[in-house]
Order: sequence, then C-alpha cells, then structure tokens
Amino acid sequence: MIVDQDETAAIEAHINSVVEKYRQYVNPGLSRLLQFGGFGDLEVSAEGCTVTLASGGTCLDFLGGYGVFSVGHRNPAVVSAVKHQLDRMPLSTRAYFNEPQALLAEMLAEIAPGNLTYTFFSNSGAEAVEAALKLARKSTGRTKFISTEGAYHGKTMGSLAVTGREKYRKPFGPMVPGTTFVPYNSAEAIAAALDSDTAAVILETVQGEGGIVPAIPGYISEVRRLTEAAGALLIIDEVQTGLGRTGKLFGCNHDGVQPDVMTLAKALGGGVMPIGATVFTPGICDAAFGENPYIHTSTFGGNQLACAAGLAALQFTLAEDLPSRAVKSGTRLKDGLTSVLESHPDALTEVRGLGLMLGVEFAVQDVAELTINGMARRGVIAGYTLNNPKVIRFEPPLTVSEHEIDQAVQAFGEAIAEAMELLHDID
Ligand SMILES: Cc1ncc(COP(=O)(O)O)c(C=O)c1O
Repeated sequence: MIVDQDETAAIEAHINSVVEKYRQYVNPGLSRLLQFGGFGDLEVSAEGCTVTLASGGTCLDFLGGYGVFSVGHRNPAVVSAVKHQLDRMPLSTRAYFNEPQALLAEMLAEIAPGNLTYTFFSNSGAEAVEAALKLARKSTGRTKFISTEGAYHGKTMGSLAVTGREKYRKPFGPMVPGTTFVPYNSAEAIAAALDSDTAAVILETVQGEGGIVPAIPGYISEVRRLTEAAGALLIIDEVQTGLGRTGKLFGCNHDGVQPDVMTLAKALGGGVMPIGATVFTPGICDAAFGENPYIHTSTFGGNQLACAAGLAALQFTLAEDLPSRAVKSGTRLKDGLTSVLESHPDALTEVRGLGLMLGVEFAVQDVAELTINGMARRGVIAGYTLNNPKVIRFEPPLTVSEHEIDQAVQAFGEAIAEAMELLHDID
C-alpha cells in the first residue's frame, strides 16, 4: 500500500514536471487550458482507438487528432512500413528519385476524382493549402480568392488569408490581399462574388472547424459549374474530410464533383507521419511548373518515411473499405448521440455530420466545455470545433468498434447530465 502511494506520488510529480515545462517553455496559456479542460495528464502510448496515460488510465480517442487517426493509432501495417523504410532511408537527398514518393503520387492519381494527376508533397494541411493557392494564381494569372465564412484552411499567412474567422486573421493583418468571404452553402453568394480576376474558390466539403457543417447536396456541384463558367479554379480542401472520413473516399465524391485542385493531409500520414499533399490537373502542372520545376518546393515534402506511411495508410483504407465502415459506425454513433439529444433537448440543439465526422451543437458554450471535461474524466476524448466552440466534434478512428462507440455515447450522456446538474445548482 505504501509502495502504491509512493508510486502514485512519483507519477504525479512526473506529470507535474512536464506540465511545468509546458508552462515555462512551450505555452503557458495552453498549459492552463489543457489542465482546466481535464487533460492534465501525459499521453504515453496508443493503439487503435485507445490512448494510455502516465497516470495509468486509458481513454478512447473520439477526437482522433481532428481526423489524423483514421486507420487507428499505430496501425500495424503503417508502423511496419515506416520501420522498414526507416532502416533503409528515411529522408531524401533531394538529388535522386525516391520510389515511395512516386508510388504514393501514382496511387493518389488513381483514386482522386477526375483528372487530378500530379501531386506536390509537403508536411501539413496548411502547406498543402499554400501550394494550392500559389498554383491557382500562377496557372490562372489571376489574383483573387473566394472562401467561406467559418472555413478553416490553416494558419500560415496564405492559408490564414482564406480562413473564415476574423479572430484568427485580425492580429496578423494585413493579410495576403484578395480574398472575399461568402456564407457557406450559398451558391448564389459565390456567383455574385466571382469575377474575371477570381483565381479560385476554396471550399471544404464539410466545414470541420466551422462546426461540422456538411455541404448541402448540390452545393459543391453548382459551385463547380459556376467556377468553370467563370474560368476560375475549384480547390477542394479535403485535409479533414479526405480518405473515408465522411463515408466516401473524398468528401467531393458525395456530389460527384471533380475539382481542379484537392488538398490532403491528416489521415494521409496513417497516424504515424506528418504529410501534406496537393493534387492537381495536368493543365495546372504545365502552367505552374512547366518553365521552372522548382517554382514551389519543400525540403521535407515527399520524404520516403512520410510517403511509405501514406502508401500503407491508403492500402489499408481501400482493403478494409474504411469509407463503408465510416457509414455504418457513423450511423450507430449518430443514433446514440441523437438519443442523448432527445433526453436533453434543453442542452443540445442538433446532431449533424457525415460518416464519422459528427458534431453536436449545444445551446450554451459553457455546457459544451463542462461536457468535454466530464467526458475526459470518464475516459473519452472529445473536443470543440475551433471556429464554433458550441459544437463538440466526434472523429474517432474509422476502425472504432461498436462497443467503443457505445462507451463514448454513454460517457457523453453522463457528462451532459452532470454538467446540467452543476449549472442548475449554480443557478
Ligand atoms: C480543412 C482543413 N484545412 C487545413 C487545415 C490545416 O492543417 P494543418 O493543421 O495540418 O496545417 C486543417 C486543420 O485542421 C483543416 O481542417
């Protein structure tokens, strides 16, 4: 017993020392937020849907790194491919050809919609968007972009300039000029904003950070028609929706749309490696890279380790038909969340989303925060959406089991009941 107490004290001291280093050397505000949100522990290992913490507890990952862990944590096929590559050559000299990059680009061309044939590789979603914006300007000779209110495309200067929330743009202004923001899901608004200097319209097929807002059927295809007529490009940002998350391989498959440029990241790294990819048409390739193949580059982009992870992740996604699993498991999760909504109509206003990209909207932001905290104490990770903190999102691995879904729904229901009781007592 004494030994146990000593051990517990040692673990707590260890956790506190890491938290303190975050406070001193990483980001004091973030450190406070994580602790306050019920995440004052260390993640030490993970497998499938489960993360093990330094305190000895485990939790189910229903945030899934905002869509990173579609094939699960440490998927054996991805880990093995990466280990194999690590023992041979992890990074490129950038002087020679590297095979994993060629194979991954070929596979992306095979599965991407329409004639998206060429891929520029980078290391993150924001970089994939940066490349898309630059390719659009260079290949059209035009400068303006149309994006949507609530959109999230990243936080580098270019991607931030098309991110639809003033709060994140304003402190860093002036932005890259030329972006008009229009309401999401309004093709009329895009029609009104398009002109002869529009290089591209950039859209998510489900606004993730905007609060899990799916495109209404017909919206993306109508924007496709409008952009084509205006001589502008359509960039579809599939960084969060791509590779099965919404129940189709790509979100734009729901509307049968072929964009000119598509961005991928998150799940493409198989939950093991960071990677970004911008996939585009031969015409864009010619116009952008024709004269100078080095016009846009990235030192680490297309490295062997990341591409080996990407290949293994794609092969697993196709072999296991993860899009279908997202539909089936998504239905179970949505039904479960809806039954919680029916028990708490005063706290919750809507359950929405596609596949395993689901969001629950709360009437009041405080209840959402308390619920996330209560779920964490019950061993389930959830998170709010960055541009709409009233929405809790659920994006577990697409490999999640029925039992894990039921556990998460139960934790969600209990955490809401507790939050409502607490607020009732305060009132
Ligand atoms: C749709 C979308 N685009 C771009 C990004 C930026 O990706 P990253 O954080 O890897 O830069 C995100 C991140 O959440 C995203 O959801």
